[in-house]
Amino acid sequence: MRSIHVIHENPDWLPPLAAAFDRLRLPWTEWDLSGGVFDLSAAPPEGVFYNRMSASSHTRGHRYAAELTAGVLAWLTRHGRRVVNGPRALDLEISKARQYAALEAAGVPVPRTVLALGDAGRVAAAAREHFAGGPVILKPNRGGKGLGVRLFPDAEALEAHLRALPEDEHPVDGLWLLQEHLRAERPVITRSEFVGGRFLYAVEVDTSAGFELCPADVCAVGDAPPAAPRFRVLEGGVEPGLRAKLEAFLAANGTEVAGIEFIRSTDGRVLAYDVNTNTNYNPEAEEKAGVAGTGRSGPGAIAAFLGAELDAGATASRAA
Ligand SMILES: Nc1ncnc2c1ncn2[C@@H]1O[C@H](COP(=O)(O)OP(=O)(O)O)[C@@H](O)[C@H]1O
Ligand SMILES: [Mg+2]
Repeated sequence: MRSIHVIHENPDWLPPLAAAFDRLRLPWTEWDLSGGVFDLSAAPPEGVFYNRMSASSHTRGHRYAAELTAGVLAWLTRHGRRVVNGPRALDLEISKARQYAALEAAGVPVPRTVLALGDAGRVAAAAREHFAGGPVILKPNRGGKGLGVRLFPDAEALEAHLRALPEDEHPVDGLWLLQEHLRAERPVITRSEFVGGRFLYAVEVDTSAGFELCPADVCAVGDAPPAAPRFRVLEGGVEPGLRAKLEAFLAANGTEVAGIEFIRSTDGRVLAYDVNTNTNYNPEAEEKAGVAGTGRSGPGAIAAFLGAELDAGATASRAA
């Protein structure tokens, strides 16, 4: 039977999507690519494939899941399978340097960023040269969940941090990004969600507690709930010009499901700094906005979109 196949590596992130599929009575299977064996000389099963491999897969002990996914996606596309968030989405997911090149090519401004491979001395020298030794954000090129994202007041603090950093906390692809520190009027970022390449909603995220911003329930740490909700769906969405640019960026990069994060800087710039092609949605924020359990929720919109793609494929193969 033709079905929806969900490519992932973290079962903890599946239940909201599973519930949305079940609500629509859609046939689906999961492909857990934290491991696997694939006969590349055979044809893949029929259906629609949805890739949600995560940039942070290595932090869950799945160091090579993204590499396996790249191979599997090549095999699926060679066989003409419909893949939502195919190889180009994976390329973006695992490299902020590629995200920034693609965003800028689509006319979306990004923060000033320096890409660096080298030891602590070399990276600190780059901070001195390009950021005048002043405040700088350090982040891994392959990110996820805000892990390893730090603000340093000066290049000396950055160098001391890097010299003391254990090997297993270095970026998994070896690449660091040095980035200008964006200051916002209030300690918030905005994350715009897109499904089927179209804007769904935007959430404002309170960043006063730090840089780790995983919206899924399973990422919540500790028992005490924060005083105020950290995620809030914005009623007004985002300005139409920005929305159109972000949709054009996704279309140009073969990415149909994504959450794009940006900061409104105090100097009036709106800068995108993170593209999540594996996106999780905050259930409380969706509940509060009255979209939970509907086609306007993140999981609901994805299920409806994939269901329509499954139907479209069935019609096409009957017509052929
Ligand atoms: N250039 C920046 N200026 C200020 N804050 C930043 C900057 N880059 C990242 N942050 C903060 O750190 C968080 C995590 O950074 P991000 O680039 O999204 O990494 P990840 O891919 O791990 O989510 C952001 O959501 C934001 O709160
Ligand atoms: Mg982020």
